[in-house]
This record gives sequence, structure tokens and C-alpha cells, in this order.
Amino acid sequence: MRIVPVQLGNRSYEIKIAGGLLQKLGVECARLKFGNRCAIITDTNVGKKFAKPVYESLVGAGFEPTLITISAGEKAKSLKCLQHCYNQLAAQRLERKSFIVALGGGVVGDLAGFVAATYLRGIPFVQIPTTLLAQVDSSVGGKTGVNLRAGKNLVGAFYQPKLVLCDLETLKTLPEREFRAGLAEVIKYGIIYDAKLFTQIERDLPKILKRNEKVLAPIIARCCEIKADVVSQDETESGLRAILNFGHTIGHAIENSVGYGKFLHGEAISIGQVAAAKLSNRILKLPQHDVERIENLFRRAGLPPQIKLNSAQRQKLFSAMRLDKKVSGGEIKFVLAKKIGRVVWGQKVSPALIDEILSA
Ligand SMILES: NC(=O)c1ccc[n+]([C@@H]2O[C@H](COP(=O)([O-])OP(=O)(O)OC[C@H]3O[C@@H](n4cnc5c(N)ncnc54)[C@H](O)[C@@H]3O)[C@@H](O)[C@H]2O)c1
Ligand SMILES: [Zn+2]
Repeated sequence: MRIVPVQLGNRSYEIKIAGGLLQKLGVECARLKFGNRCAIITDTNVGKKFAKPVYESLVGAGFEPTLITISAGEKAKSLKCLQHCYNQLAAQRLERKSFIVALGGGVVGDLAGFVAATYLRGIPFVQIPTTLLAQVDSSVGGKTGVNLRAGKNLVGAFYQPKLVLCDLETLKTLPEREFRAGLAEVIKYGIIYDAKLFTQIERDLPKILKRNEKVLAPIIARCCEIKADVVSQDETESGLRAILNFGHTIGHAIENSVGYGKFLHGEAISIGQVAAAKLSNRILKLPQHDVERIENLFRRAGLPPQIKLNSAQRQKLFSAMRLDKKVSGGEIKFVLAKKIGRVVWGQKVSPALIDEILSA
């Protein structure tokens, strides 16, 4: 088993990575000295596959779990679903020492984490991320929340779990497209922080795509380590944490405008990262060879490297980009790469250059 510590003073915790961890949940929770009552929050897809072993592991360690199943998909990250969860917790009389287990992808993690952050002003929670994206990204760093009609993640809290268990076995049932989308974040860590990781992904991609546990374990652990490292230096995103948004300025704009419902997040940021690499070449002299390596790796991972837009679509994309939180005074700010493994944030890029790169 690999263990990645997340250092945040008295809120520090561990991320454990291995196959077969679901079955160890009960023992792990007993060690953390939680109260007896607990709730497993999961979605319909994940619940069908993994609720039973999680439930049984908790019962086996003397806990009294209740199961709350929400519908699968982004729509469940809503105030309505939040209220449903609160009502269930109250009906089951969960108390301050009770705890929540978030069993699922980023949707379940964000929702259940926010439930835990706010129910009785905060009760402990454990994350069991079951998508690649959730294992390397959303379960690390303590961002929790739900969507409003006006936009994504508009209500939320920074709230850290007491433990994260990444069970590699759960990845085996993940749909192919979801797995590849998660790889877009994995590749991102290589570009922003670790050239060796990038090379390793280039070399081992066929084994990664086969979800070989031996190859995946150290890669997932390294991604968690990088995110934990960044987050422990800048928990609330006042500076460094921005580097995690590499490829996300254009990626988010694609998701919010032309690509709505068409691209998964990982696919949108694949396009965004390739575009950011090209901008980096122009602004920070990222070598052309590195731009090609980045583009090739996304292609080989089965992810889209570019998007074809007509002029109306391009305009929609630009208005979406201007609405982004990272825009100040009309200038759009980017995270750009100096070389693979090293990025800088807050780089101003003119709309004309973005337009040129996107239409090339
Ligand atoms: N908190 C953060 O820091 C952070 C970071 C990145 C993304 N997010 C959020 O994460 C969410 C996206 O997460 P996601 O990509 O994991 O999506 P998701 O949770 O919707 O999961 C994707 C799909 O896979 C299914 N699934 C999950 N695990 C499975 C498994 N092991 N086997 C079979 N099917 C499985 C789910 O039911 C769902 O249909 C977004 O809401 C995003 O805002 C949060
Ligand atoms: Zn992302």
C-alpha cells in the first residue's frame, strides 16, 4: 500500500492507495475513533457495484451505517439533493461524532463533503473516490460544494476529510471514456510539476490504458502527492494553487459554451492544455518539441487535442472565457509552461493570440 500524507496542521490526513481497500474501511474508521452511527453517500451506478462491501466492512467493525443513494451525474450536485441528504441524516439521528463516507466520483465527493462540512456545523468524513479523476484530483484538497442554476460550484466550503482510500479495484468497472478523461488530469500533473512523471506516462501509456495496477499505483500516488504539496502551500488558492488550473481557462470556457454536454471535463481540458502549450510556445518560448510531446500524449490517450469552431462559436467561447473567475480588467490570465514540469501563473494573454491559436 502507498500512503501520501496531506500536511495541513491539525487537519492533516492520509491518502491510502492500493487494491482491496473497500474491505478495510471498517478497520480504518475504528482506528480514527469515530462514533458508531454513519452514513454512506453514493450514487446509483457506484452503489450497485460497491455499496455492499463498504456497508459490510463498516458493520463488521461495529458501526451502524445507513445508505443514502443519489442519482448519478452532475445534476445531483444540487441544493435539492443536499436537502435530501440532511433529512436522511437527521432521520437516522447522526450526531457530532458520527461520520460520512463519500463513495463515488467527484460528484458524490463534492456533495457528501459539503454535507459533512455543514451538517451540525461539521462532522468527520472519509472519501472513497471511485473515478480516476476523483482519485487524483477532486478527493484531494478539501474543496466541497454544489452547483446553483447560475453556475457550477457556487456554494461550497473548504473542508478536509479524515482519510482518503483510493481502491484501485474500483477503477476496473469505470467506463472507458471516464477513465481516459481522468488521464487528462494525470498528464496535467506531469506538465505543471514533474517532467519525470510526464516521461513515465509517455513510456507506460499502453499499460496505464489497460489499468495495470502495478503501473497505476505509483502514478496515482505521485499525482496525489503533487496536489497535496500544492494545496498544503496554498490551501485557499491565493497563489500557487492556481497552477492546478493549467488548461482550464479554455477548458472551462469550452464546457460552459460550445461543448456543453458534448465534452467531459477531461476532454475539454485536454483541448485547453494543448492550446495552453501552444500559447506557452509563443509567450514563454516553450520549445516546439515539448508542444509536440504534449499534443501527442493527449492524442495517444484518446483525448481531443483541438476543437473546430465557426466564428459564432468562437465568440461564444470568448464570452465564456471573459466570465471566468481568473479574468481581471479585460485581460485573460493563463497558467503557461516554461518547459515540461515547470509553469508560471497569472500570464496575461491577448484575445487576438488566443483566437489565432484556436483557429490554427
Ligand atoms: N473538489 C475538487 O477539487 C474537484 C476537482 C475536480 C473536479 N471536481 C468535481 O468532480 C465532478 C466530476 O467528477 P467525476 O468525473 O468523478 O464524475 P462523476 O462523479 O459524475 O462520475 C462519472 C460517472 O462514472 C460513474 N462511476 C463512478 N465510479 C465508477 C466506477 N468505479 N465504476 C463505474 N462507474 C463509476 C458515476 O456514476 C458517473 O456516472 C464535477 O462535479 C467537478 O466539479 C471537484
Ligand atoms: Zn480539472
